[in-house]
Amino acid sequence: MLRVLLTLALGEALRAPGALRARPARRAAAPVSMMAGGAKKILVLGGDGFCGWPTAVHLSDKGHAVTIVDNLSRRDIDTELGCDSLTPIAHPEVRIAAWKELTGKTIDFVNLDVAKEYDRLESLIKDKRPDSIVHFAEQRAAPYSQKGTKQKRYTVDNNVCGTHNLLTAVVEADCCAHIVHLGTMGVYGYGTSGGEIPEGYIDVVLPGGRDSRILHPAYPGSVYHTTKCLDALLFQFYAKNDGVRVTDLHQGIVWGTNTDLTSMDPRLTNRFDYDGDYGTVLNRFLMQAALNVPMTVYGTGGQTRAFIHISDTCKCIEIAINNPPAEGAQPEIFNQVAETRRVRDIAELISKNTGVEARFLANPRQEAAENELDVSNRKFRALGFEPTKLNDALFEEVQDVTQKYKDRCIPTKILPASFWNKKRAQEVAADKEARGAVDSAAAAGVGR
Ligand SMILES: NC(=O)c1ccc[n+]([C@@H]2O[C@H](COP(=O)([O-])OP(=O)(O)OC[C@H]3O[C@@H](n4cnc5c(N)ncnc54)[C@H](O)[C@@H]3O)[C@@H](O)[C@H]2O)c1
Ligand SMILES: *[C@@H]1O[C@H](CO)[C@@H](O)[C@H](O)[C@H]1NC(C)=O
Repeated sequence: MLRVLLTLALGEALRAPGALRARPARRAAAPVSMMAGGAKKILVLGGDGFCGWPTAVHLSDKGHAVTIVDNLSRRDIDTELGCDSLTPIAHPEVRIAAWKELTGKTIDFVNLDVAKEYDRLESLIKDKRPDSIVHFAEQRAAPYSQKGTKQKRYTVDNNVCGTHNLLTAVVEADCCAHIVHLGTMGVYGYGTSGGEIPEGYIDVVLPGGRDSRILHPAYPGSVYHTTKCLDALLFQFYAKNDGVRVTDLHQGIVWGTNTDLTSMDPRLTNRFDYDGDYGTVLNRFLMQAALNVPMTVYGTGGQTRAFIHISDTCKCIEIAINNPPAEGAQPEIFNQVAETRRVRDIAELISKNTGVEARFLANPRQEAAENELDVSNRKFRALGFEPTKLNDALFEEVQDVTQKYKDRCIPTKILPASFWNKKRAQEVAADKEARGAVDSAAAAGVGR
């Protein structure tokens, strides 16, 4: 009880600046009992995806009534890229039936495109009247978003329209649902900021000496990251104009595959992406280590990035759901990260564990060769979040997964397949090391 009170008090303190503002009329405040916890009706948009599925079962396990909304676009993109999750994943219907069989708990599934099927989305929200809506339903790979004009346009249309549809549908349905959106650390940019990155807002002195609290300047590094910056402006507007309660989670790179719950049965297995477009850096390195081919580090490997384990993603989202901002407050923003690491240090860590060496390729991405990254995650820490670090025992889980399913891997798919611009594409094409990586990947695939 003391902990609950403490949590609430801290939550209030953190939200104080926005909470002091006037409330817009029209939208009813959520009952206090709902805010303090208890069973909620929750929509999980994008609940078939890598983060969405473990989160959906985590929330269901906690006793919430969960409905997954997903049009399975990610599975279509697998087909487009000629690649697949390394782990064999069951269809949503099979996953949900297995969950019911194992736990007696029901998860609903609605096949719906958030960006394109507005009327169905609005009806669903009117019908279900959810307390919270977790929004994962976006195209989430930066490399895919830079692949070509088709992918650039799809990423903008899908992500920005989807987020806007959700906001306007919530208002139109007179629903006071709290929206919990997954954003990215990439909205801040990966230049050297010269100090700790705060959580979403910065206090500034405007010309003329006026004090103000503004969104941290957006400095995206890809079309994908740009859509998350545009989402942030939509949230700011709908919070101010309509009193929509929004939490935007600036998440680091998620690693790991399964949580305790998705490990319960093979039919609940989560997806694992290892390809050059969707596979994040740790996944790609561990995949290469399992195949015994060199890890391909882009540039000098001096990029510093933020990381979080998939189990921590689920826990942070639960914390965010239980601590909505006050109505009329500016969007709540948390940095959802456990730690920061330099890419070449990750390669070294894996090298030490596996004996597989690193190979440095020309960088397919337009980005700073080296950067520092110092990020605050004090808000989640204050609410009880205890991060899992990369060298904890869970590291082995990913190694087990890559070993177990390595026969399903297409080694050449691990290499970069999208380039930020023509110059970067030419540099990679001219790179002899890159040629060597293609050859060893191809050799690893021989006889499969
Ligand atoms: N994976 C990471 O490392 C990471 C890091 C930071 C932020 N995020 C964010 O978290 C969210 C989820 O990421 P993920 O890794 O689970 O991605 P994912 O691609 O595995 O999952 C996204 C899901 O949303 C669905 N979807 C996409 N557009 C849709 C639409 N218009 N209508 C309905 N469903 C749609 C897809 O089918 C997919 O199942 C994304 O918004 C992403 O930007 C992810
Ligand atoms: C859902 O997914 C894909 C991506 O494969 C998208 O292009 C498609 O138009 C979607 N929506 C509908 C309504 O079919």
